[in-house]
Amino acid sequence: MSLILGLETSCDETSAAIIADGRTIFSNIISSQIDIHQKYGGVVPEIASRKHIETVIPVVDQALKTAGADIRDIAAIGVTYGPGLVGALLVGVSAAKALAFAADRKLVGVNHLEGHIFANFLAHRDLEPPFVALVVSGGHTSLVYQRDYNEFELLGQTRDDAAGEAFDKVARVMQLPYPGGPYIERLAAEGNPEAISFPRARTGENYEFSFSGLKSAVLNHLNSAKQKGETINGPDVAASFQKAVVDVLVAKTVKAALASAVDKIVLAGGVAANSFLRTELAASCNKAGLGLYYPPLELCTDNAAMIACRAYYKYQAGEWADLRLNAIPSLKLGEKKYFVEKK
Ligand code: KG4
Ligand code: ZN
Repeated sequence: MSLILGLETSCDETSAAIIADGRTIFSNIISSQIDIHQKYGGVVPEIASRKHIETVIPVVDQALKTAGADIRDIAAIGVTYGPGLVGALLVGVSAAKALAFAADRKLVGVNHLEGHIFANFLAHRDLEPPFVALVVSGGHTSLVYQRDYNEFELLGQTRDDAAGEAFDKVARVMQLPYPGGPYIERLAAEGNPEAISFPRARTGENYEFSFSGLKSAVLNHLNSAKQKGETINGPDVAASFQKAVVDVLVAKTVKAALASAVDKIVLAGGVAANSFLRTELAASCNKAGLGLYYPPLELCTDNAAMIACRAYYKYQAGEWADLRLNAIPSLKLGEKKYFVEKK
């Protein structure tokens, strides 16, 4: 049995997990800082780094304890080294390097976005590449063709705001708490998605996205209603905004899957928790004869089990890092840095 310890500290969750043979979760401890950042309406990088420093070792201890494992039982330590907040990433990377050095274990650097996709391998034992993945998180919106476990091709991404960022910004002006995605979803459930016609940026025939125009349209709608003294129908605004985001995500993802001649789509990232997105994508996949996979809610948002899963396949392929591993805040999906080939 091959055990992997995963570590994730790229944003506002400190998480450590132990998984066995790539697909079985023994423990997945997540310490969220959301309560701390909520009063600022978003993540404060300096506070995030400090909190990670305090929490990282207790969280690792807890992950080992829950799994009934000792650090000497671990084959490799996988850690997120990008993309993310540099100070936050550095805490995880430094802890992982120290543990790998002290316990003389292999070190694997993991791309956070690839980790999100791999949450699906934990949730679906039968799932195998190739597929097209839609990664929708607070920082990224990317369409990816994953040919094999270690081969990715970026088909397109957002030119400006990420889908989750748009949810969070719209929520903020509607005076909903941070992070806004789940609150918008809840409000939208009471509203009419056809009530307001917000723009859909199709950005031509490619696989790129743009959400900043939509965000501005929602702000304009709210401001002009306020100026005219009209009452704002919050649920209708939320539902119409959500539909505008989801329409574009669904259309481009299905189009990319058909053009890539794959038979399945994989949904990943925090926004994959959105049940309207899941339902709409499922309906379109059904029509197009495509399979659809998404993780359970707890594996959609940031967690170390998905990082350990990604690390397992890199470990198997001999893509190990050495102690020069460093945080790369703008690491690209599929980009390979700091690994040493198997001898
Ligand atoms: O993947 P994630 O946990 O962190 C990043 O890597 O960014 O994603 C967080 C994002 C936030 O923007 C949050 O508002 C969004 O995912 N999110 C949602 C939902 N749950 C989380 N967006 C829409 N609907 C949801 N139910
Ligand atoms: Zn994430």
